[in-house]
Amino acid sequence: MVARVSTVAFQGIEGVLVDVQVMVAPGKIGMQIVGLPDKAVAESRERVQAALHASGLALPPKRVTVNLAPADLPKEGSHFDLPIALGLMAALGAIPGDVLSDYVVIGELNLDGTIAPIAGALPAAIGANALGKGLICPADSGPEAAWAGAEIDILAPRSLIALANHFRGTQVLSRPEPAVRALSANLPDLADIRGQESAKRALEVAAAGGHNLLMVGPPGSGKSMLASRLPSILPALCAPELLEVSMIHSIAGQLSGGKLSDRRPFRTPHHSATMAALVGGGLRAKPGEASLAHKGVLFLDELPEFAPQVLDALRQPLETGECVIARANHRVTYPADFQLIAAMNPCRCGLAGEPGHSCARGPRCLTEYQARISGPLMDRIDIRIDVPAVAATDLIRPMAAEPSADVARRVRRARDRQRERFETAGIPGVATNARCSTAMIEALAEPDPSGLQLLRDAAEKFRFSARGYHRVLKVARTLADLDGADRLGRIHVAEAISYRIPSERLSAAA
Ligand SMILES: Nc1ncnc2c1ncn2[C@@H]1O[C@H](COP(=O)(O)OP(=O)(O)OP(=O)(O)O)[C@@H](O)[C@H]1O
Ligand SMILES: [Mg+2]
Repeated sequence: MVARVSTVAFQGIEGVLVDVQVMVAPGKIGMQIVGLPDKAVAESRERVQAALHASGLALPPKRVTVNLAPADLPKEGSHFDLPIALGLMAALGAIPGDVLSDYVVIGELNLDGTIAPIAGALPAAIGANALGKGLICPADSGPEAAWAGAEIDILAPRSLIALANHFRGTQVLSRPEPAVRALSANLPDLADIRGQESAKRALEVAAAGGHNLLMVGPPGSGKSMLASRLPSILPALCAPELLEVSMIHSIAGQLSGGKLSDRRPFRTPHHSATMAALVGGGLRAKPGEASLAHKGVLFLDELPEFAPQVLDALRQPLETGECVIARANHRVTYPADFQLIAAMNPCRCGLAGEPGHSCARGPRCLTEYQARISGPLMDRIDIRIDVPAVAATDLIRPMAAEPSADVARRVRRARDRQRERFETAGIPGVATNARCSTAMIEALAEPDPSGLQLLRDAAEKFRFSARGYHRVLKVARTLADLDGADRLGRIHVAEAISYRIPSERLSAAA
């Protein structure tokens, strides 16, 4: 007799249905797993046998064959242990086989028969729900899976014995509750930053429209400090975004205790990061930092210190909002709709452009350092600002600075305006001006005549790329949204242009 249990194999953040077929038949004693298992799946043979033994179920002296169908889909990860074990228990008559047909099963087994947490419980639960099935998952993954919907039937046992007892009716498992991660309310606050008013304004604009931002300045001017205040002014994730973001974190195994939070991700990879770490890849094509920053912020501090190829790998996700990892026999796509915030010194010694400073290495110090960032990557950055050293007067007798809560309120209002506009225009799935398509932004952000004239002059003088032109429009649209204005005025266009032009070209033009 063949017992069948459903489970999933992950492709990106989607769970593809896998049919686990277990047959116990006379023949050479042993257990064999077929169906393109990777090393972790093949090793589940040992874990399953030990866990069943520990749960008091002796395997008969027969041949056990496990097939993971479809046979040509690679199976990766340790979550196949539990479906294989349940299939075997059903084949041996230890649990009724028909009840299993209502569930998708995932979980890793310990040798003592307890069930260990696995990555990907949330996407598995969402996949199971779409198929009209329930989910059997480890107890520790239950709170995460419960987010998939109130109507889905979830069993989250601690051990094989607890699950067998549930099916026998002697010990009923209760449905896990969705858990929320309590994050400390004390995020670093913008009020700590002295001076730097124009940098704070740029940070607010970037937060309001989801624009990419580059801060250039000497050491100790507060660039890292400014970036770390961004989470305190960003609005919370809405419900669909929360699920999407959590699915990626779930696949990456980064949901601690299966708890979700509505705070936007803020990822700060070190500049030694490899391409696989940043855009995804590695042994099991895991999501990279760019995907973990989905709907949030990817902060690259000391930008030129990253390897140039690694930085250029971000060009495609910055444009399309997703990372595609191509393998010889399949490709995996992870969403990566992030906002890039970067900080750098202007040159290696860090002081180029400071009044009274002359570098021993001459202008090469500046040009060589800045050349580490490619033109196309720079073209994708909408807002580039100088963050000069803090003035002594600001440090010694600072004026009262605005707290993050006030700025966050303005940002939320500007984002609400954007969302309403995209909804009335009938564009689904776009939340910020930065993500709006070029065709739509031309229709939605039309400057008044004097603004248009200014834009035309600037585009000619500074030779904006087509992308640059559209990005200026997007930033200007955000500036108007912050002002509560329906039409783009000259003042919005002018400010947007000033963010686009690197300061040295500005001074050369003056
Ligand atoms: N505007 C500021 N207001 C208050 N403190 C500041 C400001 N700028 C810098 N500091 C102080 O200087 C320290 C260093 O700032 P920060 O790390 O942000 O500099 P940075 O611009 O990132 O420098 P680097 O280029 O070396 O990375 C901060 O921890 C803070 O104590
Ligand atoms: Mg820094």
